[in-house]
Amino acid sequence: MNREAHATYDRLPGTETTGIGQEGPTGRPMPDFPVPPPLASHGPARIIAMCNQKGGVGKTTSTINLGAALAEYGRKVLMVDFDPQGALSVGFGVRTHDLDVTVYNLLVERGHDIRSVIQQTRVPGVDVLPANIDLSAAEVQLVGEVAREQILARALRPVVDDYDVILIDCQPSLGLLTVNALTAAHGVIIPLECEFFAMRGVALLIETIEKITDRLNPRLQIDGILATMYDGRTLHSREVVRSVVDHFQDTVFHTVISRTVKFPDATLAAEPITTYAATHAGAEAYRQLARELIQRGGAP
Ligand SMILES: Nc1ncnc2c1ncn2[C@@H]1O[C@H](COP(=O)(O)OP(=O)(O)O)[C@@H](O)[C@H]1O
Ligand SMILES: [Mg+2]
Repeated sequence: MNREAHATYDRLPGTETTGIGQEGPTGRPMPDFPVPPPLASHGPARIIAMCNQKGGVGKTTSTINLGAALAEYGRKVLMVDFDPQGALSVGFGVRTHDLDVTVYNLLVERGHDIRSVIQQTRVPGVDVLPANIDLSAAEVQLVGEVAREQILARALRPVVDDYDVILIDCQPSLGLLTVNALTAAHGVIIPLECEFFAMRGVALLIETIEKITDRLNPRLQIDGILATMYDGRTLHSREVVRSVVDHFQDTVFHTVISRTVKFPDATLAAEPITTYAATHAGAEAYRQLARELIQRGGAP
């Protein structure tokens, strides 16, 4: 591509590819996120919960595509579908209604082998622990359990050494399932849609994370806040990102995910964007997020 063509490409919506050192969408100079070296050995996994009690902010999309991008860099990734909607599972083509055993059974029954519940996906290096609507009963069923907050952590333990990263796609609530995810995790990534009121509820989420750090899981960290559905053509999107950075500063990833129809398209095709539209700016954005996360120490 010649320079001029490249410049035009850069201005298309959804292609905020920022040069190193230039001001990025978050108003800060864009650092270099180099391609990470391959890992010499695999595991134990760093566990990351993708969490925001608001729906439709890009949790599932970010789980699928961050995970797929990490796998492209040779990381072995398990994605845990922890939402009864099962969108993550469907996003990998799993026929959730046909499943007899899902993450739900691992939580509420004894004697299941997690390895027989995990499914390989068509994406090399990516496995999924699926969920379906059965999971909606778990919250009520677990209330009376001993150590009810630690049930997911215990369920994952047999496979922690098999993976480099485990991503948990949380449901849009701060209920017991999400508390289980935060108790199992080393880190949290908070996707925020670039909309008015994006930050509503984030204070409550951070308060919840702090309580869990105090009472249940002292290792838990906030790995980063991820701005999603960004539209660089609108002042509004730019203002939202700037105000999120004003509040949360370095916690906000430099990488910003633009709004593009390629994401819902990829979901319909039951593929991550990294394979569905491998050269699209949306795929590049999640690769950059993977490199930024690795550089921050959020993933091996
Ligand atoms: N960057 C994006 N641009 C356009 N649409 C997106 C983007 N990210 C997610 N979407 C779409 O928005 C909807 C909600 O996203 P999703 O990842 O399911 O959010 P959540 O898991 O937080 O509810 C989905 O239809 C998804 O395809
Ligand atoms: Mg979701």
